Amino acid sequence: MDSIVVRGNGPLKGQIPIAGAKNACLTLMPATLLSEEPLTLTNAPRLSDIKTMSELLASLGAEVSSLQEGKVLAMSSHDLDNHVADYDIVRKMRASNLVLGPMLARLGQAVVSLPGGCAIGARPMDLHIHGLEALGAQIELKDGYLHAKAPGGLKGAQMKLAFASVGATENILMAATLAKGTTVIENAAREPEIVDLATCLRAMGAQIEGDGTPRIEVQGVDRLHGATHPVVADRIELGTYMLAPAICGGEVECLGGRIELVAAFCEKLDAAGISVEETDTGLKVARRNGRVRAVDVTTEPFPGFPTDLQAQMMALLCTAEGTSVLEEKIFENRFMHAPELGRMGASIEVHGGTATVHGVEKLKGAPVMATDLRASVSLILAGLAAEGETVVNRVYHLDRGYERLEEKLGNVGAQIERVRSS
Ligand code: EPZ
Repeated sequence: MDSIVVRGNGPLKGQIPIAGAKNACLTLMPATLLSEEPLTLTNAPRLSDIKTMSELLASLGAEVSSLQEGKVLAMSSHDLDNHVADYDIVRKMRASNLVLGPMLARLGQAVVSLPGGCAIGARPMDLHIHGLEALGAQIELKDGYLHAKAPGGLKGAQMKLAFASVGATENILMAATLAKGTTVIENAAREPEIVDLATCLRAMGAQIEGDGTPRIEVQGVDRLHGATHPVVADRIELGTYMLAPAICGGEVECLGGRIELVAAFCEKLDAAGISVEETDTGLKVARRNGRVRAVDVTTEPFPGFPTDLQAQMMALLCTAEGTSVLEEKIFENRFMHAPELGRMGASIEVHGGTATVHGVEKLKGAPVMATDLRASVSLILAGLAAEGETVVNRVYHLDRGYERLEEKLGNVGAQIERVRSS
């Protein structure tokens, strides 16, 4: 397993290009299952999760061609010949469950393995199941697989999600585009990735209104046609790289970044003493003079502070002046980066869903273990400003969500290299 070695190397300077959003691409790709005509995605990120989704779609009979070094995904689901999403693929990536709604809508049946838990939580699918059952699907759990049927097709329905689940909103939205009649989803997730999916589905002929608000309304249509759609910029990669100059000092412009993708996050950066300036090409970030100030953070569904930036924000607050309290309200076990940051000298107390961070002057490099995607990158960020060398092991977690991380950070002056192990 590869490791990444980081050495504190002073202020950063330059530009970092932001790629297409992993979490948009992972829901846009299954949308190809809704149509017999080709769906092409541009600005796609080059990530291992995208390869996993490509494998899954291919196992169902779809064709996925990766063009222009992976930035373009040309897909066709004209000849689907399998409706079973196998455990071997689904257990690697929870987002595989996003083939459930589209397959049910297109084929009238789907068998999808329950993903099982992951490092950050149990990750149940009850909200997906209830929503699809509201559309008329019959779903039962057998041998760890969800067996879903809608022999007479799906019918539009009114529903209210118990929690604004991103994945459940995406599965239900995709299924509703081909259901007969009108579907209303109340308490829908409002993430930019939902808006990006709805934009793509409209380009395919779907009739959707209200995406980005808590109430989405869909008029079902008989069929969807092909389209070409650009994947929205990755707001989590954006927020991650905005923290690099915040932690190290200097000034970095994140190309393709837009304030509206990270508004709540920018409010916290401002309170911590980090300046963010909108330019014609992205967001320019610099640490205002003096030490970063402690701030409190609570993660919430969009437009609140994103849970996917909580670990990275903690890395910043480890050396802030004062004490910060971080509340993780979305996942039940998303502080595994805390003990690893502790190995670098951070002072963090975790009690249930609350982490209290007492700022220290400086962190010290150490060998640390990556446990999940965002925890991994928070350790890289901490290592950028720590004294001495930090070795982050098990970086396969990183490769799921950050394309060419060491190149992007190296280009702005970070001392970072990947050590390939046998
Ligand atoms: C998406 O996961 C993202 N993944 C996650 O990003 C992100 O953290 C999460 O949304 C929240 O923003 C993708 O888009 C591929 P949820 P998802 O359904 O859809 C509970 C990353 O690092 N829940 O909004 O799985 C669930 O257990 C990943 O890129 C139910 O209880 O998130 C969790 O506690 C990590 N029942 C909470 O809701 C359900 O049926 C949020 O889950 C579904 C979810």
